[in-house]
Amino acid sequence: MGAPDAPHRTQRGGTAVTDADQSRDRIREDAVETALGKLDLDTKTRLLAGQDMWSLPALPGIGLGSLVMSDGPIGVRGVRWSADDPSVALPSPSALAASWDPGLARRAGRLLAQEARRKGVHVVLAPTVNLHRTPLGGRHFECYSEDPCLTGAIGAGYVNGVQDGGVGTTVKHFVANDAETERFTVDCVIAPRPLRELYLAPFEAIVAGARPWGVMTSYNRVNGTSMTENQYLVNEVLRGEWGFDGYNVSDWMAARSTTADILGGLDVAMPGPQTVYGPALAAAVRAGEVPEAAVDGAVRNVLRLAARAGLLDGAPAAVSEPPAELDGQALARELAVRGFVLVRNAGGALPFDPAAPRSVALSGAAARDARVLGGGSATVFPERVVSPLDGLTAALPEGALSYSVGADPSEEPVPADKGFELRAVCRDASGTVLGEGGLPSGQVQWIGDDLPEGATYETMASIEVTGTFVPRESGEHTFGTRGLGAFTLAVGGRTRWEGVQEMGGEADPFEAFFGAPRERARLFLTEGEPVEVSLTYQVPDMSALPLKAIMFSLLHLGPRLDPDELIAQAARAAREADTAVVVVATTDRVESEGYDRRDLTLPGRQDDLVRAVAAANPNTVVVVNAGSPVEMPWREDVAAILLTWFPGQEGGAALADVLLGHAEPGGRLPTTWPAALADAPVTEVIPTDGRLEYEEGLFIGYRAYEKHGVTPAYPFGHGLGYTDWAYESLEVTADTARVRLTNTGTRPGREVVQIYLAPVADAVPRPASWLAAFAGVAAGPGESVEVRIPLPARAFEIWDETAHGWRRIGGTYEVRASHSHADTRLSATLDL
Ligand code: BGC
Repeated sequence: MGAPDAPHRTQRGGTAVTDADQSRDRIREDAVETALGKLDLDTKTRLLAGQDMWSLPALPGIGLGSLVMSDGPIGVRGVRWSADDPSVALPSPSALAASWDPGLARRAGRLLAQEARRKGVHVVLAPTVNLHRTPLGGRHFECYSEDPCLTGAIGAGYVNGVQDGGVGTTVKHFVANDAETERFTVDCVIAPRPLRELYLAPFEAIVAGARPWGVMTSYNRVNGTSMTENQYLVNEVLRGEWGFDGYNVSDWMAARSTTADILGGLDVAMPGPQTVYGPALAAAVRAGEVPEAAVDGAVRNVLRLAARAGLLDGAPAAVSEPPAELDGQALARELAVRGFVLVRNAGGALPFDPAAPRSVALSGAAARDARVLGGGSATVFPERVVSPLDGLTAALPEGALSYSVGADPSEEPVPADKGFELRAVCRDASGTVLGEGGLPSGQVQWIGDDLPEGATYETMASIEVTGTFVPRESGEHTFGTRGLGAFTLAVGGRTRWEGVQEMGGEADPFEAFFGAPRERARLFLTEGEPVEVSLTYQVPDMSALPLKAIMFSLLHLGPRLDPDELIAQAARAAREADTAVVVVATTDRVESEGYDRRDLTLPGRQDDLVRAVAAANPNTVVVVNAGSPVEMPWREDVAAILLTWFPGQEGGAALADVLLGHAEPGGRLPTTWPAALADAPVTEVIPTDGRLEYEEGLFIGYRAYEKHGVTPAYPFGHGLGYTDWAYESLEVTADTARVRLTNTGTRPGREVVQIYLAPVADAVPRPASWLAAFAGVAAGPGESVEVRIPLPARAFEIWDETAHGWRRIGGTYEVRASHSHADTRLSATLDL
């Protein structure tokens, strides 16, 4: 008999609270009250405001240490935004959700707690549990799924894992931060049912199943009220109804009103040192605008967090003994394998037959320069990155692999990287060097006090990014800049451009970070011949700014080779090989925090590359390196398609494991992949007059495809392994589904049994079917396995907009045991 995973429950009961826990909670609460009683108003309000970009002040008088926070979710960056302080980079959250394995998410969380402790971080700013409402969402890669049940289960696993390690989390972004356009101000207009049944549901499940120590409120408004000021959703729903007892921190720079924020239940305003809390909050209390009890409530929440994290003297930390050390590199590789989704495998093209010696023609720019993570605050700097080219070179016999670029989707300059040796030199107004530091790329990102030693914002007049560049190819090279302010660019000892970049149209405070790259100079360079490069930035006066930061980049783009010739080369290599592998990818300008996507097409000539390679070799495997859906118009013309998401630092090694059959691709789609953007249920992310109406109500993801009778390219829950499963029996009661299945193939494997409910003759408007629960099972060839999957009561309920409460809907349900939303293997009838 094979082994089922521990069954997963969506509602209450994820973490059992023991008597010992309760007694520790009581001692901790007493310590919190004692500490609170010793603080005066000014100290209390100071504690609620960031002292810098990432931390809260220490208060030695009451034995309180300084709480340090750091992003999340795929690694822990620490307080430095640079490669000198590397972090393990796990696969993107959409990949983690594709594992459909909350236990695996828990192990990921434990590794992150280990990383956090190593870096002196007490709270990881993660997980991101907004929904995949539309594939255009720029942070799609950073969220889990289009389905609230799957999102809640993975999120709860992750939070439990981080907190097992004695480190806090902030479940984010509460709530409805499902797209990036006008993200600081957009008003998301959502009816009560979809708000409850879809967007709030993962937060509710995580509060119930993992008791998170924190929540981060988002930039946007919901139904007219800014989320940092939202008394109803924060005080009444999150704290009142759900019993959340953690701290509520603003998204970075989201807190905009002293009075409305504190009354709206916001405990901490980040980042600092200039915030709407601190002295402004103390003044509001003294002016009678804010009751001191509101400040006390917020301080209590911060002290409780500190106590849990072991930062308050006299209070027992939540975890006295962290779990056993994990091997980050090994876990990153395992997670990648478990998240890869094999959506097509015609004629069993994969895995490669170990008995037949074979030659492999690899192509695609991302095969060499892999995109292992998505851009924005989720960025970390891994110590190493295994590209598909590295992974396959190591795994295949010598001489078996050829590589050609085929098509390069980066049409814009990116931070200077391959071939550059750079450092940053900070000077004062007289040109005297104040300090300098090494740079892993042309990107300078110094936030708060994170400056090279010797430099300060007050004394620095200029920063020069300088060093040498050894071209990988001869031809016309492009140099550029990103960032706002005055620059001078020199290459080969001559000034090539001097000018000022002003703020663009969108008043996003992070424009310097996410803004468009600008081309500044082109010149012919020769392969292997070093040239001097230098970009000097004039540091503006920052004394009036709430947040001091330096963000600009030296950009570079290699010679544009003839695209037809590149494709022809790849097709020629494919024709001569037994198998062709094409890696296609999105770019940082397509998928990132800070902006939404405009379309789902693969950038550049990548579609043409796939078509040409597939025409040259019927044994073509396409590897998709993207955090969210892309259109694949050639999908019926290739042998196999493997979705690898942003696979983290070990992605290339994991790819070799799966292609060569050392491991089975374990993923199932956490989100429906449309054949074309027009088929996606929601295709509008641009607010009208500042409002984004969630007009589709309950119908996002597979709920919408089913309602509109649209067939997607690949349905929710779909994913092929390397074995086959026969579903043999299904027995259901109102709270359990029991499924028996057998591995009928020749290899061991893992199946995700998905339980959907479909009401027969529904009395209320509801989707035609929805995911109620799921469980993973593993079995060897010929083995059978039986799994008992609890059905949560909530799966049978709707939010009653008139009674303002949950209502169980009786009647007859078809209960389906399925391989995917579109592939039901067994069904049974249940009368409620
Ligand atoms: C992002 C958050 C992140 C924070 C700190 C914000 O812009 O929306 O997800 O945690 O920055 O980096």
